[in-house]
Amino acid sequence: MSPYDSDPADRLVTPAADGEDQAVEAALRPRQLDEFIGQERVREQLSLVLQAARQRGSAPDHVLLSGPPGLGKTTLSMIIAAELGAPIRITSGPAIQHAGDLAAILSSLTEGEVLFLDEIHRMSRPAEEMLYMAMEDFRVDVIVGKGPGATAIPLELPPFTLVGATTRAGLLPPPLRDRFGFTGHMEFYAPAELQRVVHRSAGLLDVEIDPAGAAEIAGRSRGTPRIANRLLRRVRDYAQVKHDGRVSREIAAQALDVYEVDARGLDRLDRAVLDALLRLFGGGPVGLSTLAVAVGEESETVEEVAEPFLVREGLLARTPRGRIATAAAWRHLGLTPPAQGGRIGASAQSELWGDGSDGGKAG
Ligand SMILES: Nc1ncnc2c1ncn2[C@@H]1O[C@H](COP(=O)(O)OP(=O)(O)OP(=O)(O)O)[C@@H](O)[C@H]1O
Ligand SMILES: [Mg+2]
Repeated sequence: MSPYDSDPADRLVTPAADGEDQAVEAALRPRQLDEFIGQERVREQLSLVLQAARQRGSAPDHVLLSGPPGLGKTTLSMIIAAELGAPIRITSGPAIQHAGDLAAILSSLTEGEVLFLDEIHRMSRPAEEMLYMAMEDFRVDVIVGKGPGATAIPLELPPFTLVGATTRAGLLPPPLRDRFGFTGHMEFYAPAELQRVVHRSAGLLDVEIDPAGAAEIAGRSRGTPRIANRLLRRVRDYAQVKHDGRVSREIAAQALDVYEVDARGLDRLDRAVLDALLRLFGGGPVGLSTLAVAVGEESETVEEVAEPFLVREGLLARTPRGRIATAAAWRHLGLTPPAQGGRIGASAQSELWGDGSDGGKAG
C-alpha cells in the first residue's frame, strides 16, 4: 500500500547513523583540524581556542558543538582531544541517568582530559546540576547516605575540558549553555565541500572516482557528510558489480537512480509527498493529515521525516492554512504549475471560493 514501505529510519538519506555507518565511520573520520573539511568559521575559532590553551599550558574552555546529525560533531570532539594531545573519555546524556553516574566519570578524569558528552540535552536534571558545579569550579558534591542523615562530601576534580554535542541546542537550560566558553554552530555543507569529502573518503576506501563523479554524489547528499559517505558506498557497490569499479558522473547518477535518490537528494518518500501535493491538490494549501493519507503514511512521518528537508530546499512551505508547494517544486518534478503559478493560483482560488460558499460549483 504505502509508497514508502520500509522503515523511514532505514532510508538511504537519513542523517542519523545506522549500523553500517558506525562500523565504517571511524575509518573515515578526519583526525586533525586541517584535515577537517568545511565549517570554516567553527574551525578557525576553535583553532584559536586550542592554540591559546596550548600556549598557556592549561585546559581550554569548555566547548559546545551544536548542529544537525551527521555534520561532524563527534569527529570534531575527537580532533579537539588529538590537537591537545589529551586523552578523551566518551559518554552521552542518555547514559547518565543518575548524578552518581556522572560523579563516577568525573572523579576518574585525569588532568587535562577531554570529556565528550554526546546528546548533552538528554541528561537527567540532577546530573545536569552536578555538571554546573563541575564545569565552573572543578568540584562535585558527592551525597552519601539518604534522608536527614545524608551528607555532602566535596570532591576536587582535576581541570578537564568538557566537549558537549547537541542536535537540539534550544533544549539546553541556559545555566548549562552559559557555562561553555565556546559554542560552535555547525552548518550544512556546500556542494563543493561535500565533493571534497567524497573525494577524500574515496581515497581512503580505494575507490577510483573522477571529480564529476564526486560532484554528482555531493549534489545528492543533502549538505551532510554522513550521507555523502553512505551514498559513496552504494555507488561503489554499483560501479564494482555493473562496471569496472571506476566512478564517473554517469555511473554515480545511474547508481543513485537505482537507489531512488534523485539529483537533488530527494528519496521516494520526499517525492511521493511532493507528487501528491502537486498532482492531487494542485500545489495546496492542503492539511498535513490529508496529505499524509494521500501518500499512505502517518502524519508524523510526513511532518518529521520528509518535510524538514523539503522546507529547507524551498520546495514546500508550511502555512497556517496548510502545506503549499513552491514554484521550484513544480519545476523539480517536471510539471507545469496551473495558470497564475501554483501556490498563488491555488490560494487565490480558495480565497475566492471562501468557506462554505458554493463557489466550487460556480467555478
Ligand atoms: N568536515 C568533515 N570532513 C570530512 N568528513 C566528515 C566531516 N564531517 C563529518 N565527516 C564524516 O561524516 C561522518 C559523520 O560525522 P560525525 O559522526 O562526526 O557527525 P555528528 O555530527 O557527530 O552526528 P550525530 O549528531 O549523529 O552524532 C563521519 O564518518 C565523518 O567521517
Ligand atoms: Mg555524533
